[in-house]
Amino acid sequence: MQSDFAIDMGTSNTRIFTVGKGIAVNEPSAAVFDNTEEEIKEVGTKAYEMLGRVSGRYSVICPIKEGVIADYGIACGMVGKFLKKVMRSSIVMPKAVVCVPSETTAVEKSALLNLLETFGANRIGMIKQPVAAAMGAGIDITSPHGAFVVNIGGGMADMAVISLGGTALTGTVRSAGNAMDEEIVRYIRHTYNMHIGKHTAENAKINAGSVIPGTVSGTYTIKGKCMITGMPIKVDIDAEELVEPLQKTANKIIAKIRDMLENTPPELVGDIHTDGIILTGGMARLRGIDKFIGEAVELKVRIADEPELCAIKGSGAAIEYLNSRKNKINPLNDTRLNRN
Ligand SMILES: Nc1ncnc2c1ncn2[C@@H]1O[C@H](COP(=O)(O)OP(=O)(O)OP(=O)(O)O)[C@@H](O)[C@H]1O
Ligand SMILES: [Mg+2]
Repeated sequence: MQSDFAIDMGTSNTRIFTVGKGIAVNEPSAAVFDNTEEEIKEVGTKAYEMLGRVSGRYSVICPIKEGVIADYGIACGMVGKFLKKVMRSSIVMPKAVVCVPSETTAVEKSALLNLLETFGANRIGMIKQPVAAAMGAGIDITSPHGAFVVNIGGGMADMAVISLGGTALTGTVRSAGNAMDEEIVRYIRHTYNMHIGKHTAENAKINAGSVIPGTVSGTYTIKGKCMITGMPIKVDIDAEELVEPLQKTANKIIAKIRDMLENTPPELVGDIHTDGIILTGGMARLRGIDKFIGEAVELKVRIADEPELCAIKGSGAAIEYLNSRKNKINPLNDTRLNRN
């Protein structure tokens, strides 16, 4: 029996959809590497929990940076372990859809295709992340009506104006969720002389972060290391303090959205004016992000249901396009047959 699958290797999370099981993997893109035995020990959630907590023999590696493979060997090992969890060994030559950032170089695409071929995929189709996210958000991408999708993940804000299954315009900002975490690390260091880790910053963003003043109230306790004494300390910050650092990244994304709108053909702008912008990706959950973007560009902004799952849901839905040539409008690019 064959089980076709779709995969989205994101900067923060890897998600795999299989025909039959639906979303079967949804785990952090991380691996624990044993430097002595030179092999991967753990992947996903268990590996991510160890980030910043191991040294010496073990390293925690996040092999995807800004949406593309940064460490091929680790990415391959990680995907192999994820696929092993969900695929039966008897499976031969499945077909695969892979979700890619909308602006990907030929070399980056080739690395992804080679990686999937390693796992026996015999026909591979690529779908651009915002197109997949639009499908996963329930938008009919085959219509000639223009839709503006902004997917904000860990490594990038990936956006596109979509019409007739294709992208009329794409744009990428290589700073998103991770950049916001780094802004929090920087703010806490400057303001409180305290060094905090990535996990702590991310938790602060998720639990107390907002881009609109007045959205979150009260204090939030942050634990870290005093930069003067080297001792463990904690401070109670006002949740409001996070607004400004988080707005810095949000403003970069807004500048790109403006730039895209300026370059969109008039008819499609008209459609976007009517329907507004659709926000997907994990960062769509940040408090106030829809309002902040909406007020800046004077458009309605709608957050998709389960925004972090839109891209994998859409990639899974696109598997059907691999099997049929009769679809005139096809959201897949660069479908390729395995050379082996
Ligand atoms: N409730 C929340 N509030 C704020 N941020 C959140 C929330 N949930 C998830 N995030 C953030 O969303 C980001 C991950 O989103 P997502 O899973 O869409 O990224 P990705 O697909 O792995 O990355 P990319 O598409 O950029 O390569 C992380 O930065 C995470 O901290
Ligand atoms: Mg993503």
